[in-house]
This record gives sequence, structure tokens and C-alpha cells, in this order.
Amino acid sequence: MTRSNDKFAGIDAVDLFCGGGGLTCGLRQAGIDVRMGIDFDVRCRYAYEHNNHALFLHRSVTDVAAEEIACHFRPGRVSLLAGCAPCQTFSKYNQKATWRDKRWLLLDHFTRLVRETRPGLVTMENVPKLEGQKVFSRFTDTLRGLGYHVCHQVVDCPKYGLPQLRQRVVLVASAFGDIQVPPPPENVHVQTVREIIGDLPELKAGCRDPHDRLHFCAALSPLNMRRIRASKPGGTWRDWPASLVAECHRKSTGKTYGGVYGRMSWDKPAPTMTTQFYGFGNGRFGHPSQNRAISVREGALFQGFPGDYQFLPEGEPANISLLGKMIGNAVPVQLGRLIGETFMLHLKQLGLLAEGADVPVP
Ligand SMILES: C[S@@+](CC[C@H](N)C(=O)[O-])C[C@H]1O[C@@H](n2cnc3c(N)ncnc32)[C@H](O)[C@@H]1O
Repeated sequence: MTRSNDKFAGIDAVDLFCGGGGLTCGLRQAGIDVRMGIDFDVRCRYAYEHNNHALFLHRSVTDVAAEEIACHFRPGRVSLLAGCAPCQTFSKYNQKATWRDKRWLLLDHFTRLVRETRPGLVTMENVPKLEGQKVFSRFTDTLRGLGYHVCHQVVDCPKYGLPQLRQRVVLVASAFGDIQVPPPPENVHVQTVREIIGDLPELKAGCRDPHDRLHFCAALSPLNMRRIRASKPGGTWRDWPASLVAECHRKSTGKTYGGVYGRMSWDKPAPTMTTQFYGFGNGRFGHPSQNRAISVREGALFQGFPGDYQFLPEGEPANISLLGKMIGNAVPVQLGRLIGETFMLHLKQLGLLAEGADVPVP
């Protein structure tokens, strides 16, 4: 990284494991120019490129060479390597994952790319459980060994005003000086389900809104329709009459598992969005007052995507499982923005950033 003037003109970023672009979108809102995203799922290309005006490299991160990244970092600007490796491996929702899962090693490739490209700034986001794993200490030890100042912290999203119960470990690292994940703001207003989706048109299960191709939801079987009718806002299958309770939940082992077939509450944040947020039986994804699971549009809004974010090309049929994956996998856009603003403030406080370098990237 070189410096043409006294101060850097801005930040250039590359986003590893970019998916449909939640993190990229948030970084751009903070004024960071994300130049390229890398993902091995080509179905993310359209959403990523169309909304973020950045290149999409269709490649496994394991096969990416340092030069393919470094060429996107322009002289006179600070470089940022960002990434959110797949988190299912570490997620508490994945009880089948073994600690030998190969996806762990993806973080080692992130480490390799930091070592080989030496960006000025680094960030990663993942599930809190990652913090206790060896692969994470290898990552942080390597960064510190290379001279980075590193801070990581579990961020409780509602405390930062996000409309979603979600905890994530956020790591920020800087080659320039001490950096911190900011504490939650005081007196923050936590956004509720009502504020985010309260004014969307009503939908019936299995139907779509003719004016919004993302406002559609999964059909419910006759049994699940009876179940959702018996569900209370904020409640789960425990509220149902015994005749509706699934066999597996009647067993003593299933009795403790209350996290499925739930309905949201209007006046609380939404539950954590997963890749299957569109299924009533997959979590607490029942609409607060309509007898259906939330729509794809509603999931995207809880994840902070702007209403005009295009996930699919015009005319392409909307596939609920593909959209669920792209949207549920995303770093909430507001969290990406918080990370971006943290870097901007950090450079400003060190007197390294030129005036006006933090305006949102058009
Ligand atoms: C948690 S998601 C990242 C979401 C993204 N940061 C966002 O905010 O929208 C993880 C992504 O990693 C991708 N992925 C998994 N293994 C990969 C690999 N070996 N190389 C590149 N991408 C990979 C998946 O396709 C998925 O899109």
C-alpha cells in the first residue's frame, strides 16, 4: 500500500465468501469501495454485481492467488480484506457438524491471503462459537505476528439497534494502530418486527404479492395450517393441543426443543434469520398475525437489505430455497455498515483519512 498524498483517499476492499453481498452492501454504505467479491456459488453473481457495482470472482477461495486480490487495491488508498467464511460448521443450529469439517480450513485460506496480500485492514464475522476454536486462534495469532492490532468481540445485534436476535463474533484488525469493536450505543432504539414488516401487504400461505416478486411465502400442509392457527405470538408448539404436537416433540428428548414452529411477536426483534427462514417448521418464523411463515421479502428486510436490492435477474423465477440461502447466509447489512464505520472512524482518529472519504459509495 502506498500513500500518494498526506492522507488516504479512501478504502478499497475485497470480500471473500461474498455470497449475495450483505457485508459488501453494508461496507459500501459506510463509504468503502468494495471492488471484488469471491464466492464459489455462481448463483450469487447477479445479486452481488448488480447491486454493488463490484466484480464477482466465481472461484473457491482455496484456489485464489494473492495477485488476483492485490490488483484491486489502488495506490493512495487503504486496503481491506473482508470475509465471512461459511458458519454452519460452527453454528449452534448445526448439531451434525464434526470438528473435522473441511470448511474449517477455509479460515486458514483467509489467513494465507492476509499473509500474502498484507492489507492495511482486515475484518471477519462469524458465529460466536468460532472464538473458542483453534482455527480462530491460528487466525488471530498470525495477524498479531504480522504486526496487526486485533480486536474481536461478540456483538449482540439488538443492542446495536438491529431488528434481529443475532449474536456474531466480529473481528477488526488494523496495521495502523489500536482498533476496537465499538460498544453498543447508549439508549439505542431496538427495531421491532412491526417497524420492519408491519406495513407489507397481507399474504396467504403459498401465495405471492403481484406487485413484489419477493413478497411470497411457502405453502403450509393442512396439518401445519391447523398448527399455525393454534400458535400464539412469541409462542411455539408448546402452546398447541396435544393432537397437533409432532411425534418427535412428544418424546422426552424432544420436550426441550422449543425453538421450532414459533410465531414472531410484533413488538420484539425477529429471531435469527437462517437459510431456511421461509419454513414455519424451521424456527420461530411464523408471521406474528397471519397464518403463514414469513415471506422472502420479509426475511430480506430483517437482514437489512434495501427494498430495491435485486436478488434475481428480471424474468427469472424466484426459487425460495436459493433466495433463502442467499439472504439467510448474509451478514446483516447494518452490521456490515457498523464494521465499515468502525474502520472509517479508526483511520480518521489517526488522522489518516482525507476529508469526505466516508460518503456512501454510489
Ligand atoms: C456466510 S456466507 C457469506 C455471506 C456474505 N458475506 C454476505 O454477507 O452476504 C458464506 C459464503 O461462502 C461461500 N463459500 C463456501 N465455501 C467457499 C469456498 N471454498 N470458496 C468460496 N466461497 C465459498 C458460500 O457459497 C456462501 O455464499
